[in-house]
Amino acid sequence: MKLYVVKDKATMGKKAADVIAAEMQTTPHFVLGLATGSTPETCYAELAKKNKAGKISFENVITFNLDEYAGLPVKHPESYRSFMDAKLFKHVNIPMSATHLPNGNAPDLDAMCEEYEMMMDKVGGVDVQVLGIGRNGHIGFNEPGSSLASRTRKVKLTKSTKEANGPYFKAPDKMPDYAITMGIGTILEAKKIILMACGDTKVDAIAAALEGPVSVTCPASALQLHPDVTWVVTKDAATGLKMEWPEQD
Ligand code: F6R
Repeated sequence: MKLYVVKDKATMGKKAADVIAAEMQTTPHFVLGLATGSTPETCYAELAKKNKAGKISFENVITFNLDEYAGLPVKHPESYRSFMDAKLFKHVNIPMSATHLPNGNAPDLDAMCEEYEMMMDKVGGVDVQVLGIGRNGHIGFNEPGSSLASRTRKVKLTKSTKEANGPYFKAPDKMPDYAITMGIGTILEAKKIILMACGDTKVDAIAAALEGPVSVTCPASALQLHPDVTWVVTKDAATGLKMEWPEQD
């Protein structure tokens, strides 16, 4: 486990993009797991910059997003497909057919979730999974109480997540109550994980995830069980950490 405490969101994005780019350059058919939300925006901008400068190519990259709202039209500005198009896919040379998000409008959501997992397996699994963290410690939309062995499935969103994400919707009451998310067990199968966190609203979640017991009360604490997790955390999000962490190069 590596922890980088950095000064701000821009530095966090640069550091995360450097880690991802290094993996991309050494893995021929790279499978990238993606997250949405405000946290990874600077990282995606950096990846787009590196792509434009010819330092990395997305030509042979396949992506799988962690989650998507259930029942929200894919063209809705707050759908995670719209987010990914706007923040990353439109700015890099990735074939759109290589980008995958759970289909929150599938007629049979259980079958869709099973198929989503099968598609990831078929391409050899996720090489690097990008994560943010919710104020309540969620990863993807695995809210507190999610089984640490959970798989891709439909979930009900908590009040705290609706309060955090609701303001992005024009009418907060229009935010869906349900979402599809990769499970914690699914996430833990990624070969490498990089979690970014910024801002003082994440202090408790970061402390519980890194230094608390592994528990369903903080889904991100399950990452303590993974052998290769890099945490890139801004200093204002790291103020709740008590341990003396080794400095990283
Ligand atoms: C979204 C996702 C969520 C977010 C989390 C933090 O794909 O996986 O777990 O990472 O809700 O959101 P932000 O970054 O907006 O604070």
